[in-house]
Amino acid sequence: MTDALFTPTRLGSIALSNRIVMAPMTRSRADDDGVVGDLTATYYAQRASAGMITTEGVFPTLDGKGGVGTPGIVTDAQQAAWKLVVDAVHAAGAPIVLQLMHTGRISHPDLLPGGHLPVAPSAIRPKGGAWTESATQKPFVTPRALELAEVQAIIEGHRIATRRAIEAGFDGVELHGAGGYLPEQFLSSGTNTRSDAYGGSIPNRARFILETLDAMIAEAGPGRVGIKLSPESIMPNEVHDDTPMQTYQYLTERMPSADMAYLNISFFDRRENDYHAMFRSRFSGAIVIGGALNKTIAEGLIANGDAQAVSFGRAYISNPDLVERFAADAPLAKADIATFYHVPGPAGYTDYPTLS
Ligand SMILES: Cc1cc2nc3c(=O)[nH]c(=O)nc-3n(C[C@H](O)[C@H](O)[C@H](O)COP(=O)(O)O)c2cc1C
Repeated sequence: MTDALFTPTRLGSIALSNRIVMAPMTRSRADDDGVVGDLTATYYAQRASAGMITTEGVFPTLDGKGGVGTPGIVTDAQQAAWKLVVDAVHAAGAPIVLQLMHTGRISHPDLLPGGHLPVAPSAIRPKGGAWTESATQKPFVTPRALELAEVQAIIEGHRIATRRAIEAGFDGVELHGAGGYLPEQFLSSGTNTRSDAYGGSIPNRARFILETLDAMIAEAGPGRVGIKLSPESIMPNEVHDDTPMQTYQYLTERMPSADMAYLNISFFDRRENDYHAMFRSRFSGAIVIGGALNKTIAEGLIANGDAQAVSFGRAYISNPDLVERFAADAPLAKADIATFYHVPGPAGYTDYPTLS
């Protein structure tokens, strides 16, 4: 065993006591007003031996909600509830970053205020369905294309949400630029057929993400904003881009690396491709790699200098003491998929035991 995973590091302005990051994971335990409860504070605090925790995706504006039970950071009540989470995690010793996730067209009128249509760069209907109630999916509808002023209002919404997160005590804020959600819908040619400044050419399609990052950094300060990207993801909600390598090259070159905390590159499947090398050569800040890792692969990524930190998702659902288990070379508990989302109470949420 090497100690590669257990040395301190920094992601921009955020200090980590080890290299193991808890990946953002939607768990759908918020109330109908998008407010998280005490159990959510317990859940994250249980996992605070991580070098850094990333929250589940949180909607930055009311039109950004995409699933039943997902939380927001739009209202005072939502913000106050997050402050309790932050305080619990800080007391337990980890920094915590809030992930902003605007789902765009991956939503449904049942989830949105006034039963409005989901919004998107262009009125192109996705395949599949939205989780509108526990274990119930309704087919996606054709979203409404955003007016130019509305695009700017959503960017402004990310700025205000970032301010709220920093006020609540978060150490940083991450933009969810993957998952087939709004930022990736703007970036990708298959979901963005706009003819204004936010569509068409690669620079125009990248504009939404770049302006949103600038707005977030303006509120959070240097070294406190991260982004998650996952080009050519084969996840549900897939988006298609005609020239993904060129698109991500352009985006990465233009991202304000020097003022950012990190770039998280995660795939659900483990893929060896040249995206990692492309990102490393174009992004000057810290890189976090995740997706289908195990301890050995993770150690290699750190030891080789491919990543400053590694992120674990599913393993963190069922192993609150993942860091201790890795340190002891102990076996990992398997996560129960049936309780990933929207199950009331502690079951599958705060009741996974630690080793000791
Ligand atoms: C239940 C569940 C919910 C997830 N929700 C989010 C999310 O809200 N935001 C996000 O960026 N990724 C989300 N992901 C993806 C994870 O962050 C991670 O990239 C993925 O699980 C691959 O890592 P793993 O193999 O270590 O689980 C989710 C994954 C799972 C299993």
